Amino acid sequence: MTDKYAVIGNPIGHTKSPLIHQTFARQSGQDLEYTAIEGRPGGFREDAEAFRRAGGRGMNVTAPFKLDAFAYATDLTEQARLAGAVNALKFEGDRILGQNFDGIGLTRDIVHNLGAPLRGSRVLLLGAGGAARGAMLPFLEQKPARLLLVNRTLGKAQALFEQFKPYAEGEFAYASYPELADAAADFDLVINATSASLRGELPPVHTRVFAHASLVYELAYGKGLTPFLSLARGAGGARLADGVGMLVEQAAEAFAWWRGVRPATADLIKTLTVPLA
Ligand code: ATR
Repeated sequence: MTDKYAVIGNPIGHTKSPLIHQTFARQSGQDLEYTAIEGRPGGFREDAEAFRRAGGRGMNVTAPFKLDAFAYATDLTEQARLAGAVNALKFEGDRILGQNFDGIGLTRDIVHNLGAPLRGSRVLLLGAGGAARGAMLPFLEQKPARLLLVNRTLGKAQALFEQFKPYAEGEFAYASYPELADAAADFDLVINATSASLRGELPPVHTRVFAHASLVYELAYGKGLTPFLSLARGAGGARLADGVGMLVEQAAEAFAWWRGVRPATADLIKTLTVPLA
């Protein structure tokens, strides 16, 4: 019998997950079906349960259900527990395993695809919401020499800092945007994990943070040159990337978790890339 998987979110019309997983399945000769489910607001548990009871083997979970999926899972990985959110579920008998591959996919994209080592690097991470939280453990496991968290609401950066301090081996700190303007700006990597670009907004960073960077990364994807990437382009010679690679890599991680086979990602990333023009 063909194994069933699905992505659940709301809205779900623009999801690339079925295309990505169907491509992985074809390439790796796996017999599976992957569909998209529009979850009902307030009805996540029922909708996920209906899929599970109908023989579903696993799900990807996207906005706004990642916290609901966290509550729904019976077993959480350490990464999911620390991320405080679940983006992938695996159904095994009565157990519902919850994992979060977003930060793992981001780290893989930066290190393996873009060739920018996090190990020993000086990293500026903008944002302290769900996306930043998911990236914390995978980033710190890479042992950056310096990781600076900057957020508009300072208390949220401080909370992330306090939670992840035990995992940091290098220099680890948090700051406000005004403080960043006065701090040393010798970052190798600048990462925008805010949601500003989704609304065409720009986090209030000074261009000097890009001066020494070799890579500037925007977690949003499919938007072309966002105001943030545009600012970076005018401010230094860094390579620019958006989150399309993160999207495909988190999917590949979920696929490997479910199927035991890690699919190739490079061609798919190329196909899905919207040029940064
Ligand atoms: P996500 O899951 O995408 O991280 P989130 O949890 O709502 O979404 O977090 C959004 C993040 O983007 C927050 O860090 C937010 O800053 P605040 O904590 O101060 O709200 C940040 N953000 C959103 N718009 C921003 C803007 N225009 N400038 C700077 N930061 C912004």
